[in-house]
Amino acid sequence: MSVVPREALAAALATVDDPEIRKPITELGMVESCTCDEAGRVAVTILLTVSGCPLKDKLTKDTTAALMKVEGVTSVEVTLGVMSDEQRGELKTKLRGGAAEREVPFAKAGSLTRVYAVASGKGGVGKSSVTANLAAALAAEGLKVGVVDADIYGFSIPRMLGVEGKPTQVDDMILPPVQHDVKVISIGMFVPGNQPVVWRGPMLHRALQQFLADVFWGDLDVLLLDLPPGTGDVAISVAQLIPGAEILVVTTPQQAAAEVAERAGSIALQTHQRVAGVIENMSWLELPDGSRQEIFGSGGGQAVADSLTRSIGAEVSLLGQIPLDTTLRIGADEGMPVVLGQPDSPAAVALRGIARGLASRARGLAGRSLGLTPAGR
Ligand SMILES: Nc1ncnc2c1ncn2[C@@H]1O[C@H](COP(=O)(O)OP(=O)(O)O)[C@@H](O)[C@H]1O
Ligand SMILES: [Mg+2]
Repeated sequence: MSVVPREALAAALATVDDPEIRKPITELGMVESCTCDEAGRVAVTILLTVSGCPLKDKLTKDTTAALMKVEGVTSVEVTLGVMSDEQRGELKTKLRGGAAEREVPFAKAGSLTRVYAVASGKGGVGKSSVTANLAAALAAEGLKVGVVDADIYGFSIPRMLGVEGKPTQVDDMILPPVQHDVKVISIGMFVPGNQPVVWRGPMLHRALQQFLADVFWGDLDVLLLDLPPGTGDVAISVAQLIPGAEILVVTTPQQAAAEVAERAGSIALQTHQRVAGVIENMSWLELPDGSRQEIFGSGGGQAVADSLTRSIGAEVSLLGQIPLDTTLRIGADEGMPVVLGQPDSPAAVALRGIARGLASRARGLAGRSLGLTPAGR
């Protein structure tokens, strides 16, 4: 007879999350058996979703730690098995909530996930840096966050967020790697080395659709999409796949850049999307004496916000100004977003402020575009 009640073991196992799916292993049907002898020695068998599961060590460690906390347990032995096709099928159905396959969950009526498509007119204005840092900052605020690197040709999100893991494939469902508490998917995880992706529009659309429909995102508060620069195929695909996605426009203060950014924002007029706001990046450099040097001029962000307000006919505001800051660049190169690594640096303070603003409007349907096209168009 065991000295430890079964319920205590079950309760401990229920505190262990699958590192990829981020739900309790008990709920996912991953615990095949768990026994305890009179000396308090526990033997537990856990079924992995796929045999090569990259996070099995973490799972073993977490399970051991959870069971060792139970009073009376003296040792834990974890055996790892693999789910049968049938068990995997059940898991998939459970994760999809019984839904038909290949639906984009964020496009469903009643989805509470806020989706932000981060857009810019030009490349190099800091769109990916903003995306990566907002994601990390929102996750640090306790929100459930996902990032789709939709810049298929110019993917840079994996490096900026320091994602080294590969997605795990469970049949036709993809489990995204998690880094800094953010679920991340990028084409960079599927191409070997630093090979370029050479695709035409329809392939881009398909890739994006797979990222949205075949990736298991779970219940997210916020999904950020890092778009390629400009007003191309991908922006249109996003509008088609997630009509409720709101656009976040990133620009530098430079007037020439602002004009191009404005075009990226006004795509919303044609796609009937909302513009969530404008973020100005590289706004100034703070000098050692505290003064600001405006390297790229000034006023671009406000100018974009004002002219989008006029052309769209709804208030578009400047959500924040991010100064030039070497800590941001270093963080991006090292895979440690500045908002986490150097949260008090000037750029991080600005980014965290913008994230807080977005977090306060994180969930719900209020004030959102329904993505409906007026009749007759
Ligand atoms: N505020 C900033 N201060 C310093 N460097 C920045 C800042 N924003 C972006 N960068 C750097 O500028 C380069 C371009 O940024 P990136 O985010 O890749 O732009 P985009 O995605 O718009 O092409 C990167 O090397 C990045 O580290
Ligand atoms: Mg980029």
